Amino acid sequence: MTLQLDDVTLTYPDGAQRVTALEGVSLTAEPGTLTAVTGPSGSGKSSLLAVAATLVAPDSGRVLLGGRDLSALGPKETATVRRERIGIIFQSSNLLASLTAIDQLLVLAHMNGTPLSVARPRATELLDAVGLADQADRRPHQLSGGQRQRVTIARGLMNDPALLLVDEPTSALDSNRGEAVVQLLRRLTAERDLTTVMVTHDERHRDSADQVTEIVDGRLRQLADR
Ligand SMILES: Nc1ncnc2c1ncn2[C@@H]1O[C@H](COP(=O)(O)OP(=O)(O)OP(=O)(O)O)[C@@H](O)[C@H]1O
Ligand SMILES: [Mg+2]
Repeated sequence: MTLQLDDVTLTYPDGAQRVTALEGVSLTAEPGTLTAVTGPSGSGKSSLLAVAATLVAPDSGRVLLGGRDLSALGPKETATVRRERIGIIFQSSNLLASLTAIDQLLVLAHMNGTPLSVARPRATELLDAVGLADQADRRPHQLSGGQRQRVTIARGLMNDPALLLVDEPTSALDSNRGEAVVQLLRRLTAERDLTTVMVTHDERHRDSADQVTEIVDGRLRQLADR
């Protein structure tokens, strides 16, 4: 499904004033492509993902997914869209310390009301897709940073999303492991026809993206389109 941000402006309250996080941002991301969002700290990258995820409503502008205007929906409907269509892998999407890798995925399916008979084969397939088939029964402390990151990616795909939003997937990893995670996202994006938007600080990952954008002070510009 195509994601379109159309002239989105977002401000946050800041004492008596407001701070502008996004200003007139327009972006189109197509299925099967990886869009990189780069830019300095505090420039609005995570805010853009939050708006695309329908977690935050913009002050003005529209968010469309597959042509449907999400900004016009009520809170209940946006929650349904989020649950059914959007995979979110955020900086703070921590794993639960006491659960094995496969249970991290199954607990999410359980919360969504998916029966175990459907969820278990799917979780197994996803762990296999991220190269962790033989680590399914390990808990987070028994996994490397890169392996943990791959579990969060598998978990983000558990609801078979059309839109995958990823915030700094490689920030905790060394450059080789970080590159492997980006290549994994790239492969999954192509295989599953995902519309993937990935925030990254790391300029080297720009080469892996189909579209590269940069946000500075809340304003987005296109750097490259392949
Ligand atoms: N909940 C909030 N309340 C008030 N201001 C916020 C809030 N979240 C973000 N901001 C402000 O909005 C601006 C954009 O923040 P955002 O988190 O989108 O930046 P970022 O590009 O993701 O930064 P980083 O690379 O450090 O993660 C910053 O000035 C930040 O201080
Ligand atoms: Mg951020």
